[in-house]
Amino acid sequence: MYKMSLMPLYTAEAIQEMVQILSEKIARNYKFDVVVGLLTGSFVFASDLCRHFPNKKIKVHFIKASSYGDATESSGKLNISLADDLDITGKKVLLVDDILDTGLTLQEMVKFLQEKGAAEVRSCVLLEKRARRKANIKADFVGFSIEDGFVVGYGLDCAGEYRTMPDIWTLENEN
Ligand code: PRP
Repeated sequence: MYKMSLMPLYTAEAIQEMVQILSEKIARNYKFDVVVGLLTGSFVFASDLCRHFPNKKIKVHFIKASSYGDATESSGKLNISLADDLDITGKKVLLVDDILDTGLTLQEMVKFLQEKGAAEVRSCVLLEKRARRKANIKADFVGFSIEDGFVVGYGLDCAGEYRTMPDIWTLENEN
C-alpha cells in the first residue's frame, strides 16, 4: 500500500514556471509543425505547453501509448493506438510526454514516428527519472529530473488515479 507524501514534490506554481521555461526554450531551438502528445499521462502537460507556443499554426495530435497498465513496472511491450489518421510525412514533430522512466516508451515512439515519415522528431518530457533507464535515449527538452520515486499528479497516475491533481506528489510505501 502507498501513502501520499506530506508535501508536493512540485507545486502547481513550480510546474507552471517550468512549463513556461520549457516552451520558450523549445520555441527558440526547434521550428516544428506538429505536437504529438502521448495519452494518457501527457494530457495535462501537453495542453499547458501548447498554449505557450507563439506559432499558432502548429497542429496537435494525441496517440495512446501504454506499457504499464495498472502495474508499477513496465510490461516492456508498448501498445500504440489512435494513430491511424496521423499524417506527419515530411513534418517536424515535437513528441510530448509526462515522464521518461525506463525510456522504452520514448524509444519506441521516436521509431514509430520516424517510420510514419516524420522529417524530424524531437522530444520533450516534463519529468525524467534517472535510476531505471533501460533504453539508451535522452529527451531533447527536460523539465524536472529526479533520481527515482513513484510520482503522481499533473497527468501521472497510480492505477489510473490521481491524474487530475494540479501538483506532483510522491507516493511512499506504507511499510
Ligand atoms: C507512462 C508515462 C510514459 C511512460 C514512461 O505511461 O505516461 O508514457 O509510462 O515510462 P517508460 O519510460 O518506462 O516507458 P503508461 O504506460 O503508464 O500509460 P499512461 O500514459 O496511460 O499512464
